[in-house]
Parts: sequence; structure tokens; C-alpha cells
Amino acid sequence: MKTSMKFLAALALGAFVFGSMSFAFPGEEWKAPESSKATKNPTKADKESLSAGAEVWSKYCKSCHGKLGEGDGSKAAELKTELIDFTQKKFQSQTDGELFYKVTKGKDEMPASKKKNIEDEDVWNLVNFMRTFAKK
Ligand code: HEC
Repeated sequence: MKTSMKFLAALALGAFVFGSMSFAFPGEEWKAPESSKATKNPTKADKESLSAGAEVWSKYCKSCHGKLGEGDGSKAAELKTELIDFTQKKFQSQTDGELFYKVTKGKDEMPASKKKNIEDEDVWNLVNFMRTFAKK
């Protein structure tokens, strides 16, 4: 009797630990909330926006995501999380609103733009700039 109780307790504990861990498994897809999809990008992707985006990218993003968003920055190898390739459809098929959400919120090793004092306007410039990574 006692042993089976212990077994059940261990099982419950195991399920709890596993359950609370599962969202942190590397490689699992990061989904922005449904509500972020429709957020409109207020910034036109003109020359000015793209060059501003490129500048912020080099300063704050390139070290992990790489010059062209391929996930090959100088710090990429030190990360626990595998970076996805921003040139691919899987990334590019997200809406501007979803990308804005992810950059402003951050997750685990991905720093939120707010922490780096990046203005929302520059996040939109970054979103526009990240579109230039798309493989034609
Ligand atoms: C210290 C390394 C690091 C830096 C610097 C960094 N990122 Fe990230 N980024 C990550 C990691 C790790 C993930 C994956 C997070 C996850 O899925 O758990 C990520 C994910 C993302 C995603 C979401 C990809 C997807 O799943 O669709 C976007 C967009 C993004 N980063 C943009 C940026 C931008 C823009 C900057 C610069 C302002 C930046 N990142 C700076 C590490 C970094």
C-alpha cells in the first residue's frame, strides 16, 4: 500500500515537473497570440525605414541572428535555443503584427526590445528590415 502511494506521488511530481518544463523545450515553435495577428504596421517600408531598421539590427540583433537573419551570428553557438532561419517561409509567413509582438515581448534567451530601450517605431523598422531577408 505504502509503496504504491509513493509511486503515485512520484508519478504526480514527475508529471508536474515535465508539464512545467515543456514550454521551455528548445526547438518548439513560438506562437504569437491570435490577437497580435491583425496589428497594423504603421510604418511604410521605404528607404528611410529600411536603413533605420538595418542600423538597429546590426547593433542589437545581428550578434545572435546573423547579418542576413540566417541564425548564424557570433553568439548563436552559445545559445541553448536553436535559432530559426528568417529567410524561410516558416518565418516570413507571420504577419507584421506577430513579429512586432515577438520582438517587443522577447522569450527566454531572446531579449525584449523594451529591455534594450528600442522604441516601438524602431521595432516596426526592424519588422520592415526583416522582410528583406526573405528568399526570393
Ligand atoms: C542573445 C541572442 C538574441 C538577440 C540579441 C536577439 N535575439 Fe531574437 N531570438 C533569440 C532566440 C534564442 C529566439 C528564439 C526564442 C524561442 O523560440 O524560444 C529568438 C527569436 C526571435 C524572433 C521570433 C522567431 C520566430 O519564432 O518566429 C524574432 C522575430 C526575433 N528573435 C527578432 C529579433 C530582433 C529584431 C532582435 C534585435 C532587436 C533580436 N531578435 C535579438 C535570440 C536573440
